[in-house]
Amino acid sequence: RVAYVNGQYVPHSHAAVHVEDRGYQFSDGVYEVCEVWRGQIVDMTAHLDRLDRSLSELQIASPMSRAALVQVMKEVISLNRVKNGLIYMQVSRGVAPRDHYFPPAGTLPSVVMTAKSVPAGKMDKVAEQGVGVITVEENRWDRVDIKTVGLLPNVLAKQKAKEAGAREAWFVDKNGLITEGGSTNAWIILKNGTLVTRPATHGILKGITRAGVLKLAEMKGFSVEERGFSLEEAKSAQEAFLTSASGLVMPVVKINETILGDGRPGPIVQDLRKSFHEASE
Ligand code: PDD
Repeated sequence: RVAYVNGQYVPHSHAAVHVEDRGYQFSDGVYEVCEVWRGQIVDMTAHLDRLDRSLSELQIASPMSRAALVQVMKEVISLNRVKNGLIYMQVSRGVAPRDHYFPPAGTLPSVVMTAKSVPAGKMDKVAEQGVGVITVEENRWDRVDIKTVGLLPNVLAKQKAKEAGAREAWFVDKNGLITEGGSTNAWIILKNGTLVTRPATHGILKGITRAGVLKLAEMKGFSVEERGFSLEEAKSAQEAFLTSASGLVMPVVKINETILGDGRPGPIVQDLRKSFHEASE
């Protein structure tokens, strides 16, 4: 495997950033995960737009032109022979002697990019069974709309989920409403077939897959309500699912100890999963 690190393509096993990188010391950086499907980068423009937004919210300089970034993305895909898989890219504020204040103007952001293959059907197998989620108290900062590498609450929540035999943890805010998962957006489907997901105005990352599903739902004529929903409402939902670039549309069949429906992925979520790439093409 080959990785891109600050202008060079290096063996993945030797790809490293400096110990004084601000991403390493302060989580002072942002990232994107993009899906590669049949050799194409899914929703590439939307991911690059969100990267730009994350960078500008943190006042990190844009590391290179968009054309150059796209070139690197294509190169890591091709060097790693990825047909179906994921791209990871991270931009930090760069390398400088440790000091909380921003480094001097002109400090170059660090850019790292990797690509890996995901065996065809791997996630489909998970999706056939559906996954469980647990709920945890929301304990993240209020700028989760920025896709930063500061993911410790997410890491702890997801590990707790794993130890409980679940795949994802849903954060519940102080109003009792579910915000999102540790690395996914959260959705429920009501008994009348309406899709419900939290508005991307506050408390969640505005997922690219979420946007794709909103578009797909509209194409299919499903009714959608962008509003908060509580754990109680989720537990009585007909179906539920998670969205992310790495899992696409992932059916949820269990929330804490409550089994949804008959405990198997329902028809609407299966339909959305099957048709997802149609809408993003
Ligand atoms: N996670 N919410 C959070 C907190 C996320 O980290 C992610 C993405 C999403 C879904 O966003 P999108 O549909 O654009 O992937 C929502 C990536 C996949 C990750 O951290 O691996």
